Amino acid sequence: MAVERTFSIVKPDAVAKNVIGEIYSRFERAGLRIVASKMIHLSREKAEGFYAEHKERPFFGALVDFMTSGPVMVQVLEGENAIKANREIMGATNPAEALRGTIRADYAVSVDENAAHGSDSPESAEREINYFFSSDEICPRTR
Ligand code: TYD
Ligand code: MG
Repeated sequence: MAVERTFSIVKPDAVAKNVIGEIYSRFERAGLRIVASKMIHLSREKAEGFYAEHKERPFFGALVDFMTSGPVMVQVLEGENAIKANREIMGATNPAEALRGTIRADYAVSVDENAAHGSDSPESAEREINYFFSSDEICPRTR
């Protein structure tokens, strides 16, 4: 399996809980490297564009309200099988169904405020990385 990149968000609930470092540690312990990172407070327009695939879903308005309710950390993670690895570290969308020891099981309380985002395919990873980062903001390891 080749080295892959994925896009990740530490959502407003987890930033508010002050567990950014705890979540970053989980990525590092799993062998994923942070190759880009920044804190931003999403505008409605930016959040709506990010979640455009869910535009027609009943939860869309609440999702945008939540994602714009406070700052988030956005990051690019790099490693073997990074997309799947990150989804496993995060756990299921609904924290009630997430395996013990996953980010969502440990830090989230409900499906609508679920602590983290991770790309679900190579296509979405590429779109999402480019939606938040320019190429000069991504820093592959040189040592
Ligand atoms: P989705 O892409 O299905 O989940 P994931 O984040 O695991 O890829 O949904 C995107 C987000 O929308 C999800 O993280 C939380 C929100 N959401 C709800 O608020 N209610 C729901 O019933 C679902 C399915 C998602
Ligand atoms: Mg998704």
